[in-house]
Amino acid sequence: IGTVVYENSTIASKSVAKEIADLIRVKQAQKQPCILGLATGSSPKGLYSELVRLHKEEGLSFKNVVSFNLDEYYPMEPDSINSYVRFMKEQLFNHVDILTENYYIPNGKLSKEDIADYCSNYEAKIEALGGIDLQILGIGGNGHIGFNESGSLQNSKTRLVALDHVTRVAASNDFSGLEKTPRTAITLGVKKIMEAKRVILMAWGEGKSHIIKASTEGPVTSQVPASFLQEHNNATFVLDQSSASKLT
Ligand code: F6R
Repeated sequence: IGTVVYENSTIASKSVAKEIADLIRVKQAQKQPCILGLATGSSPKGLYSELVRLHKEEGLSFKNVVSFNLDEYYPMEPDSINSYVRFMKEQLFNHVDILTENYYIPNGKLSKEDIADYCSNYEAKIEALGGIDLQILGIGGNGHIGFNESGSLQNSKTRLVALDHVTRVAASNDFSGLEKTPRTAITLGVKKIMEAKRVILMAWGEGKSHIIKASTEGPVTSQVPASFLQEHNNATFVLDQSSASKLT
């Protein structure tokens, strides 16, 4: 596993955006789609704003990009203020030239009995495109990646999961209270994340320093799903000085 530490999250985000832009352009030159795995939350916001800038100011086109988001709350209306659909449109999709039929975000308004089929279909779409070229991740304070909470297995599939109490507490401000915070979500499984050809996990701030140390220097364990990335052959943790401060 690689760790790269930048002066601050703005500089770090720009460097990740540069890597993505380079990959999109290589794939364009090869007339190939570029398959991106995308995350929501606060960590990738600077990345998305830099990608928007590269589109508007430097002509970066997303016409060959196909993206799959990691997760969505369940149940969740796509146009709700808290949906990850809304987040992705506001942070990225509405500001670049990605085709609407080329981005996928797990559907938060399925009926329960359709979820299993929907999830295997989501994975089948990724496989049909040859897998994820580059997966962007954040990390939860408990080591979750996507919404693969503690206890998720390395071969876990895309599925409906129960959110950890700490995850719900972290989200409760957005939902104006714990009671209104969803208890479940649909998440890409660990297996598809591990199959991505390249993985970049971004983490900022002192609050993440403990889990960054545990994930990169601790044992590989399902208690800390991000630690599975130690077994990925092309995964990098992109950090700022605070999130890296406990590394030896
Ligand atoms: C979001 C996701 C989560 C977040 C994680 C960190 O799509 O999959 O794993 O990346 O909870 O969230 P932030 O970046 O808000 O600290």
